[in-house]
Amino acid sequence: MSTTDESRRQSPLDDVARWLDDRLRLAEGTQRYWRKAFPAHWSFLIGEVALFSLVVLLFTGTFLAFFYVPDTRLVVYDGPYVPLQGQEISAAFDSTLRLSFEVRGGLVMRQIHHWAALVFVAAITVHMLRVFFTGAFRRPRELNWVVGVILLLLAFGAGFTGYSLPDDLLSGTGLRIGYSVLLGIPFVGPLIGFIALGGEYPGTDVLGRLHILHVMLLPAGLIGLVGAHLAILVRQKHTQKPSKKATNTNVVGEPLFPNQTLTSLALFAFTIAVLAMLGGLFEINPVWLYGPYEPFQVFAPAQPDWYMGWLEGLLRLWPNWEFTILGLTIPSTLLPGVILPGLIFTVVGAWPWIDARWITKDHEEHHLLQRPRDVPVRTGIGVGGFVFLLSIFIAGGNDVLASNTATGLQTISAILRVGTIVVPLLIGWIAYRIAKGLKENEAAAARATRSEPASGAQQ
Ligand code: HEM
Repeated sequence: MSTTDESRRQSPLDDVARWLDDRLRLAEGTQRYWRKAFPAHWSFLIGEVALFSLVVLLFTGTFLAFFYVPDTRLVVYDGPYVPLQGQEISAAFDSTLRLSFEVRGGLVMRQIHHWAALVFVAAITVHMLRVFFTGAFRRPRELNWVVGVILLLLAFGAGFTGYSLPDDLLSGTGLRIGYSVLLGIPFVGPLIGFIALGGEYPGTDVLGRLHILHVMLLPAGLIGLVGAHLAILVRQKHTQKPSKKATNTNVVGEPLFPNQTLTSLALFAFTIAVLAMLGGLFEINPVWLYGPYEPFQVFAPAQPDWYMGWLEGLLRLWPNWEFTILGLTIPSTLLPGVILPGLIFTVVGAWPWIDARWITKDHEEHHLLQRPRDVPVRTGIGVGGFVFLLSIFIAGGNDVLASNTATGLQTISAILRVGTIVVPLLIGWIAYRIAKGLKENEAAAARATRSEPASGAQQ
């Protein structure tokens, strides 16, 4: 094809583009951004997996919202699922059964939506670990770290409210636990509980309120904050791995268009394919097996979705300590259910400032990533913290462990209580030692290289 523009036949699209550009001056901006360099590394794609999972959640969720009925009113089930036929169930549970057995594509949409939620939170978690262990939260990205932490909280909220909508026995049990923790907050707990449920538990308005949270308020928060997150990213440019070319003042990478755009589109297609495969092949949340929620029923083992497991584990491991302060009874759920998770999120949210002030004592601007060995203390604390969360996550399945190991539940819980303290401290310390050792070895090797006389001099 000859390169001269005049000879190229003008397509109608050219006219449209020229019309738009004459009025919106698009070319100036796009030219500047299309050529923007984007550092290329596989770990920088994890945030995008979270982004694309969110897109899949929004689309499949919209489909489900067309059929789901957020109503606790009782109806008699007359659908195709024989074991529940003739049984009085809530309209919400009934609509979920209809989605699963009668709406064309309903079950696969439900499954893709649920798998996308699990992958979404997993991608956020791995993305956050990537940012943490490479120091990508350091100045000027403290704000984007905080935005990220709020995004994680919103993702938890979206997961918990969505998980509770089918009104089945498993999610109802989770809601009951959530409500009990809420009731345990002195002074305001019962009031918030009453307002949230529109009356005494289980209340008749709870599903309607969870529904508004799940399909409107939380998605709006997520979309708004992801927008802010990416805008800050574009404004601040992405960090990059140190290399011969990469410095703290330049960006070495692929142009946003076409390279990065095609990579992201391929990743988007891959994410959709994986979620569709999971939704099509692997059964998840078969609510018809759990049955409708009845406040006087519960079954074991009962586990929430993985990202709520650590909260469940804290509640299960915490001893039944109830104490009274100034005549006020502090129920045993307050510390494990509210204060400890609050403390963990506060420390995580404030981490960029803790790190700069007490660990690295470095308030400079950084656009080059670090390696875990570069800051052994941060690595030790990070690994220890992660192992702590993992161990209380395991504790969230203490009943499963007990029944699978034929060991008493109390014995398992006692072992886990000790384990969740000792193991994270030990593994955190080992990670610190390994990082420190790698760093010292590298420094010694560098010193040795520097002190080696240039090979020419010897001769
Ligand atoms: C809905 C959740 C989230 C989405 C969709 C998201 C998306 C992204 C994307 C696409 C990037 C650029 C590519 C990359 O580095 O991976 C990014 C960068 C970043 N994210 Fe997130 N993220 C989310 C949650 C979080 C969380 C929970 C944190 C931390 C607590 C966080 C902190 C950051 C930081 C500091 C950057 C800049 C990284 C750098 O320049 O190296 N993000 N995010």
